[in-house]
Amino acid sequence: MNKAVFNPFDPAFRADPYPFYEALREHDPVHHTPLGTIVLTRYEDIGWTLRSSDFSRDIEANAKESTDPTMRAKRERRRSRSGAKSILNLDPPDHTRLRRLVSKAFTPTSIERLRPRIQSLVDSALDKAARQGGLELIDDIAFPIPFQVISDLLDMPTDRADELRDWSQVITLALEPTSTLEDLERTDAAFAELIPYLLRVIEDRRRHPGDDLLSSLIAVEENGDTLSIEELISFVVLLYIAGHETTVNLIGNSVNALLAHPDQLEIWRQNPEGANGYVDELLRFDGPVQQTVRVPMVPVTYETASGPVTVEPGTVVTTVLGAANHDPAMFETPHRLDLTRSNASRHMAFAAGIHYCLGSNLAKLEAEIAVGSLVTRFPTLQPVGEITWRDRLTIRGVDHLQLEFR
Ligand code: HEM
Repeated sequence: MNKAVFNPFDPAFRADPYPFYEALREHDPVHHTPLGTIVLTRYEDIGWTLRSSDFSRDIEANAKESTDPTMRAKRERRRSRSGAKSILNLDPPDHTRLRRLVSKAFTPTSIERLRPRIQSLVDSALDKAARQGGLELIDDIAFPIPFQVISDLLDMPTDRADELRDWSQVITLALEPTSTLEDLERTDAAFAELIPYLLRVIEDRRRHPGDDLLSSLIAVEENGDTLSIEELISFVVLLYIAGHETTVNLIGNSVNALLAHPDQLEIWRQNPEGANGYVDELLRFDGPVQQTVRVPMVPVTYETASGPVTVEPGTVVTTVLGAANHDPAMFETPHRLDLTRSNASRHMAFAAGIHYCLGSNLAKLEAEIAVGSLVTRFPTLQPVGEITWRDRLTIRGVDHLQLEFR
């Protein structure tokens, strides 16, 4: 394969990015794109970049102007938005302050308490599927479970599930490197509906607080200057969207991967107690978030076989998490799904460093229960017809897969 192969517009890349990552990692691990950005594909470089305090996550503020007119226009549009930046795009000390406010709700102990509720949601979804003799993987289980769980955590009403699902699918379009100006317009239009909706829920909750996460964030906002109303809204948007967009794809991609590897499916069925570790391997094998970005604040240097490569401050650096997860220097026979892999938990599917996914324990628990219950309860689970994938790069996920139990 040719050296400069990072072409996210190629349909073959979207269908199966892993061979492309492999070619880049072997031939050009610190790849300069025509847009003036850098793409990293080695596990070690990616881990170092994500953990280093020499990098910022605030691309809007710290990346130098792109030479590409579309990229420049996209950035201007993003900058013109009002409201606070999301925690995901903040650097310390603001990042540290916001993260501290919610970490408690996401510790392993707090999340483990949700197990009975998640199990009962999954059981009801599967009872219905059993009556029907099958289910559609995304609509009938992968979406409803995470959506209900994050709605429970925030105590959000669920009567507008369909609209919320549409808004969040449009909003996550903005994360795609291939997004167009029209996509950003659609994103802004979705925000213009979502934010007034959230404001109404927040105002109602101020009058009737409960013991949910939203009420406790509102209490922080009311108590002083540690959380502004704009930060509160942007936090809720992120939790809400991160809380279901990505987990949907973890459940979808995992069931798909297991059905394609019947020997591994049998391991899960025979030894369901290892489920937590199996989910790590599924996150490594085909994770929902394939890439993220950082920008160096000082010159940084990567060692390569053809000598050191120095990257200037302000250059956008894409860390391809999916490529790190398939790096043979870290994972032996990386393209094999192996639920018993001993170092699977070292995957980068949740990134690394200070932005390491806040919801990782929750996402893993939901996948463990949803995937585990589905595959163990229905030993004859089979796909029917063709699988379709969502046409995305940053967030990779199954769009549709019909399943039946013969
Ligand atoms: C399988 C499901 C999920 C995956 C693969 C995933 C992946 C990620 C990744 C890669 C990041 C870091 C991005 C970066 O460093 O640039 C991140 C951050 C984050 N995730 Fe997740 N996520 C998942 C589920 C969740 C859930 C269920 C929640 C909350 C309910 C959540 C909340 C967050 C938040 C708040 C951040 C920002 C953390 C920070 O900036 O400090 N995620 N996630």
